[in-house]
Amino acid sequence: MERKLYPSMMCAEFDNLSEETQKLSISEIDGFHMDIMDGSFVPNFGISPEDYKTIADHTDKLLDVHLMIYHPEKYIKMFVELGAKRVYFHPEATPHSARIINQIKQCGAEAGIAINPGTSIASINELLPLVDQVLVMTVNPGFAGQKYLEFVNTKIKKLSQLCCDFNFEIVVDGAISLEKINELGAIGVTGFVLGTSALFGKGKNYSEIIRSLKEQQEV
Ligand code: DX5
Ligand code: ZN
Repeated sequence: MERKLYPSMMCAEFDNLSEETQKLSISEIDGFHMDIMDGSFVPNFGISPEDYKTIADHTDKLLDVHLMIYHPEKYIKMFVELGAKRVYFHPEATPHSARIINQIKQCGAEAGIAINPGTSIASINELLPLVDQVLVMTVNPGFAGQKYLEFVNTKIKKLSQLCCDFNFEIVVDGAISLEKINELGAIGVTGFVLGTSALFGKGKNYSEIIRSLKEQQEV
């Protein structure tokens, strides 16, 4: 099964973001993962809209946006206009998830829900037929370099039984290593957000790492 790889740009080298984007863009990645944070829904700040524009200006690859913010409805149009073709928001951050999914689709983007480690499938069950992706947080959102939360695997297995009925993709985000790509790919995960666990800060050529992650995946 094909496994799609998405570098998490909050982990990139920011001293030359355009060059960093170009280096990643020539590799076999399937798109860029762009974390936006408000310091309230999560206790941190991800990339800025200006960073988003810099990245968008230096690649033709798919750009998503992961809105770890309250009131996501306020910023969907802005990020779609900056180039986002896929918008993830957190149902935990709004009482109007169904309306927001519709708003994202009206803007012409794919709609994804991102769910925190402690969020149950039961609480988002009604949304599953409406979305294109479910982004499963495998760390508590907001920071890179954390430990993988093994208890989330039970939820991933349950989602993988539902994804064919409702036709959504499962993407995982947080502490994703090669081992996790192989382990989770085997149970139906098709998208992987890559940060410091598998890609950044390894002192190696990004294309080589991405190639090895693609090659070393079990068929
Ligand atoms: C977590 C971030 C991710 C990811 C970073 O909020 O959204 O970007 O955890 O990757 P790791 O965890 O491998 O450093
Ligand atoms: Zn993310």
